[in-house]
Amino acid sequence: MKIAIGCDHAGILLKDTVMECVRAMGHEPVYMGCPDANSCDYPIYGRAVAKAVKSGQCDMGILMCGTGCGISLAANRIPGIRCVNCSDVATARLSREHNDANVISIGSRIVGTELACDLIKAFLSTPFSNGPRHIKRIEMIDSLPLE
Ligand code: RB5
Repeated sequence: MKIAIGCDHAGILLKDTVMECVRAMGHEPVYMGCPDANSCDYPIYGRAVAKAVKSGQCDMGILMCGTGCGISLAANRIPGIRCVNCSDVATARLSREHNDANVISIGSRIVGTELACDLIKAFLSTPFSNGPRHIKRIEMIDSLPLE
């Protein structure tokens, strides 16, 4: 699979680990910034990865910022993107099985390199269950009235 990867200046601490982990699984990482460790704005990179996944340019995405929170909020503004901020392996796995999550977000100030790689392994290797109740609920995310 092609995996879109993006982060801000805080998340860049995990960038090399994440790229290597993705390659080791036999996938192709596509890095979308930020360019370096200078202070920058996470919405830009959350949005870039979300758009790459939504358009089909990439199959799934991985985002990093300090907590994983801000960049996941930005990604989730794109309809069809289901980005989950994970710091435990069970959530990474279940977000695929139950929620068909297509982007994972990781906090570089929360999660160490070993766990980050374990999260990515669980996320990229777990298929969606295709359970009818899960499909119905995922469809409801976009179909329930906003007001
Ligand atoms: C940057 O200092 C930090 O606020 C950002 O990486 C992220 O944690 C926001 O949610």
